[in-house]
Amino acid sequence: MPLPDQGKMDKLLIEGGSPLAGEITISGAKNAALPILCAALLCTEPVTFANVPQLKDVATLLALLMRMGVKVEHEGDIVTIDAGQLSDSVAPYEMVKTMRASILVLGPLTARYGEASVSLPGGCAIGARPVDQHIKGLQAMGANVDVEHGYIRASASRLKGARIVTDMVTVTGTENLMMAACLADGETIIENAACEPEVADLANCLTAMGAKISGAGSDVIRIEGVSRLHGARHRIMPDRIETGTYLCAAAVTGGQVRLTGTQASSLDAVIAKLIEAGCAVRCESDNIHLTAPRRLTAVSLRTAPYPAFPTDMQAQFMALDCVADGAATIRETIFENRFMHAIELQRLGADIHIDGNMAMVRGVERLQGATVMATDLRASASLVIAGLVAEGETMIERIYHLDRGYEHLDEKLAALGAKVQRVKP
Ligand code: EPZ
Repeated sequence: MPLPDQGKMDKLLIEGGSPLAGEITISGAKNAALPILCAALLCTEPVTFANVPQLKDVATLLALLMRMGVKVEHEGDIVTIDAGQLSDSVAPYEMVKTMRASILVLGPLTARYGEASVSLPGGCAIGARPVDQHIKGLQAMGANVDVEHGYIRASASRLKGARIVTDMVTVTGTENLMMAACLADGETIIENAACEPEVADLANCLTAMGAKISGAGSDVIRIEGVSRLHGARHRIMPDRIETGTYLCAAAVTGGQVRLTGTQASSLDAVIAKLIEAGCAVRCESDNIHLTAPRRLTAVSLRTAPYPAFPTDMQAQFMALDCVADGAATIRETIFENRFMHAIELQRLGADIHIDGNMAMVRGVERLQGATVMATDLRASASLVIAGLVAEGETMIERIYHLDRGYEHLDEKLAALGAKVQRVKP
């Protein structure tokens, strides 16, 4: 069931200075759960998912699916979706504008239902985020796709396998096309495919449903279309970005934490940077232990598609560099406007200079607490990390951005000893 509507005006009050210590469990990955829940549209039998995180974005997507006539049972972290009787194939503007990952119903609906009308997601705080590659790929598979009055209208009696080379690496583009190709007539090859672990997790789920996929996790994915898929059970992979966020929080506060139920193998680039910054990191089967140094060393980084350093961890590392020893450069190569957190960090006393897609950060001895405003999910996480180490109180406004992507954030931080509380208006 959709989460109770977390207050739009809730704030987060943080008293800085406590080193994080203790153990928390990582939740299921938001960016795996969203495409995987849409995959259930591809079959007429129920599909059951475990380790589904309780997030605003998941609740929004489930509401969209229910609007289409999909039956949803939600018990804790278990979600069963039955798309046997679809009554509608429209993803309306008022829902898509709140959660652009709704675009992920486009491929499954076109493949299974033969038609889809999905509102253009439009841009967001971090960039224009067009979906031209999603459209180009479906057209290559024989779909008629028009974009009119702000909607993508796709139709196809049956999609045909095709060779698709995307112009750039696109995560949800790869996911949409991979899902559509599962029911196409013939083989589809997606080249320049996204290699993110969430793509591989989606492929594992589709394979459990009877799809024939090889190469997921690499930049060439082959899908042999089948006539139908069947029900299955799938456990969502752990959230690597949530993991990285808590590792950064422990690092900046001089703490020592153990994160359980996670997967170090999906975070090599991030862990390498934390070690370069002076942290001791120990990875065991499904947990990661981090011990921070007394003071961090500033680390430079450049975001790029997996397995390189993830753009979704860029804002968190900028907060880390703000209080580290030395200077560093951060280059954002994926999105054109993903430095919104820099302006807010400067309000906490950070020394940051932005020049296009490059940020120069010089570590300062101390940040000072202040009132700041969250603008997007990962920028908000960056402000939380800075607030945990700033002197005095930091009040973060508009934390509904955080509730979209971090399950029980305040509870988990409090469990690690942070002085944090959610303030209702
Ligand atoms: C996914 O977004 C993630 N969201 C994002 O996480 C993540 O930042 C991003 O991948 C990059 O890793 C989900 O998985 C739900 P892209 P997505 O398509 O798929 C351009 C978070 O914080 N592009 O890989 O929308 C695009 O503008 C979110 O959890 C086109 O030009 O990103 C961008 O510059 C934020 N045309 C670049 O490619 C297209 O058709 C990569 O975008 C598609 C993309």
